[in-house]
Amino acid sequence: MESKNHTNIVHNQDARSILKFISPEIKVRTTITSPPYYDMKDYDSDNQIGYGQTYENYLEDLKSIFGSIYKITEEDGSLWIIIDTFKRNSQVVTLPFDLSNKIKEVGWLLQDIIIWKKDKTVPWSNNGFMQRKFEYILFFTKATKYKSNKDKVRVYDTSNLKQWWVKYPERYNPKGKALDEIWEFPIPIQGSWGDKYIRHFCPLPKDMVATMIQISTDENDIVLDPFAGSGTVLSQSAYMKRNYIGFELNKKYIEMFESYITRTFETGRLEYEKFNNSPSQDQFEKTILELRALKFARVLLTSIQNATSFKQFKIIVEIDQKSELSNKLIKVTYKFVGDYDKDTFLNIINKNIIIPPLSKFGIEPSFIFQDIAELDTNGCYGYTQTNTHSFVKDIALSSTKVRVLSKICVDINEKDYL
Ligand SMILES: C[S@@+](CC[C@H](N)C(=O)[O-])C[C@H]1O[C@@H](n2cnc3c(N)ncnc32)[C@H](O)[C@@H]1O
Repeated sequence: MESKNHTNIVHNQDARSILKFISPEIKVRTTITSPPYYDMKDYDSDNQIGYGQTYENYLEDLKSIFGSIYKITEEDGSLWIIIDTFKRNSQVVTLPFDLSNKIKEVGWLLQDIIIWKKDKTVPWSNNGFMQRKFEYILFFTKATKYKSNKDKVRVYDTSNLKQWWVKYPERYNPKGKALDEIWEFPIPIQGSWGDKYIRHFCPLPKDMVATMIQISTDENDIVLDPFAGSGTVLSQSAYMKRNYIGFELNKKYIEMFESYITRTFETGRLEYEKFNNSPSQDQFEKTILELRALKFARVLLTSIQNATSFKQFKIIVEIDQKSELSNKLIKVTYKFVGDYDKDTFLNIINKNIIIPPLSKFGIEPSFIFQDIAELDTNGCYGYTQTNTHSFVKDIALSSTKVRVLSKICVDINEKDYL
């Protein structure tokens, strides 16, 4: 028998005997798997689940396997199952939901149902007159409190965001947009895995697996796949400095996986390091906070102008530091210069900063009233009453058109993000 304590290993064993091969000291942080199809595909080994079984026995076997996995999962751990419906006797069999109900009985809590939108699907999964373009991802957790590194998988690539992040920075989380429930990942092209590799699998897209690993685990955690197949989950875990344990009945697949990981490990690890050290999320956060600080001044300026006859004043914006308040992100100082009446202004300001939109900016503001003679525009960029995402060029800072001044320099052309 193989050593019970080993990680970074694929057991050539039946997933039904998981507990015999993993000792109780081992705690899995997440399991990511796509179970064998029900009775549609011969994976070419004895004892395989699905092929040749009744639907009831198939569900019972899966329930027992996910029940064993529950026992060896960390308290804050999770389970991702990629699974599809299929057709029998001219009717849809709701496998994802049947399985979900079954494994609730062994303790798993269903947290999310995600649609994996792909551009193609396996030929035999024609469900009717419409083309099948998606599969289900079921996300379960062991407890109601669970590990979820959701900030790590936010979308902050500005080419993937709607262009209004420029004009409405207060509506975007500075760390990026949260993932939604529809994930788009094309299925890997046959052959992209090497000549002999994966002739008839449905390997999972590696970026999709990376997303799940990123959400549910930290480095050095253990990731399990009881139906390893081509080993996408295992190899991705290794690239991402996680430990893996796999089970797979077909020895040939294990051999192929081992040769694949030897060939690709270095590139996979480099890709992960590059992604992990990429400064773009910090950059996006900085830009969003700067846009918010500037726009806050502009909104304030407009509300004061609408409520008073003071038209000739400027606001100087200085970002100070992170806010300590739980519902605010940054401290910003707003200095008023020019034509103003301090008490009237403070009255309007205090009314406005506690209601939307200004209360939603995540800004803890402070206000200073300065004499125009004290105005120091050295190193400042000027913005107008209608645009604080692109500083004005060829206009003197003293011009009446320049209403907001700051050392913050943003120059974003929203058309670049259409
Ligand atoms: C849908 S495939 C997994 C594909 C995999 N996610 C990938 O990315 O390549 C299911 C796998 O489960 C394996 N399998 C079937 N019955 C099994 C059992 N009882 N124990 C372990 N593996 C089994 C099959 O040989 C097949 O490789």
